[in-house]
Amino acid sequence: MSTLSQISLNSSYMKKETSTKLTEKLKIQALKELESAQDLDMLQDWRINYLGRKGKITQILRGLSDLSPADRRQAGSVANETRKILESSLDAKEKDIRQTQLLTQIEQEQIDVTLPGLPSPTGKLHIITQTLREICAVFSSMGFEIAEGPEVELDRYNFEMLNIPKEHPARDMWNTLWVDSQNDIGNESMLLRTHTSPMQARIMEKKTPPIRVVVPGKCYRYEATDATHEWHFHQVEGLVIDKGITFANLKSTLYEFVKIMFGQERKIRFRCDYFPFVEPGVDMSIDCFKCNGTGCRVCSETGWIEIMGAGIVHPNVLESVGYDPEGISGFAFGMGPERIAMLKHGIEDIRHFYSNNLRFLNQF
Ligand code: DAH
Repeated sequence: MSTLSQISLNSSYMKKETSTKLTEKLKIQALKELESAQDLDMLQDWRINYLGRKGKITQILRGLSDLSPADRRQAGSVANETRKILESSLDAKEKDIRQTQLLTQIEQEQIDVTLPGLPSPTGKLHIITQTLREICAVFSSMGFEIAEGPEVELDRYNFEMLNIPKEHPARDMWNTLWVDSQNDIGNESMLLRTHTSPMQARIMEKKTPPIRVVVPGKCYRYEATDATHEWHFHQVEGLVIDKGITFANLKSTLYEFVKIMFGQERKIRFRCDYFPFVEPGVDMSIDCFKCNGTGCRVCSETGWIEIMGAGIVHPNVLESVGYDPEGISGFAFGMGPERIAMLKHGIEDIRHFYSNNLRFLNQF
């Protein structure tokens, strides 16, 4: 309790001197308290206490009426003066507190714009998508178009038009996932395409030569999975049809592709192979880019790596789409991007690609 609060403010009998002294003391006390106020709440309490309706200064002013007119004037002017001083001090103090509060707030909310940002995770293309795009970009630079086709396919395109009739033992080359389905075409069997080759027939049916096209896409086989087999995988099919296309065009085109994709110094090798839709059919190998053909784990010590099947389009296929095999010819090829990516990046198990393991996928 302050000494001042014990001073009776009942000024009925107050003399001029007493009033003036009291005002002086109050002023000193008030200014001291104001000085130590730390927030707006404390300021409000202070204002009520001194300047409010029942405040100490107000009471002194009210008590002046008991003084003689001469005393009243002098004591009144001292009290009024004091009130003015207290009011302006209050204003100044309030500004001061608000300013300090603002500075504290700014300081607390301050952000250091020079700090490094939090990395936001961004997605990226799957390694197979990257490989597919890389392959397509090479052929695109050689003037090939890019086309895509259905993954649920008719028997007709997947087999028959590719010179693989029903009951033909060559069908065993593709372990097929058949689809139970009624379709608009009648009772024709449907399947999940076992390769991208059906697009050869679909494209030739629609277009007139010349044709230069690559077809990237997904394929499916009824396959037990292991390190080199998946039940779904990708292929890139290629088809070139024009007048007078020969095996020399096949060789030069694929050689160019190999050099861009695997390095200018690569060699290529063709060996006879059988695919019902080409004649002659070949498998194409490149000399091993890991050991330069001397023999290592990547090429199974052979020095060569098989990367695709190819051949001159079979006359039966040309006929099945209404082309005249006497006037027109072409070559086709098909490769697996999974195998190419495995070779290029030293991946040992094809199943990694579709296991959704980010630790694996983020490496590429
Ligand atoms: N479609 C074949 C397969 O899945 C690959 C292939 C071989 C495609 C020779 C071709 C080709 O176009 O000419 O095994």
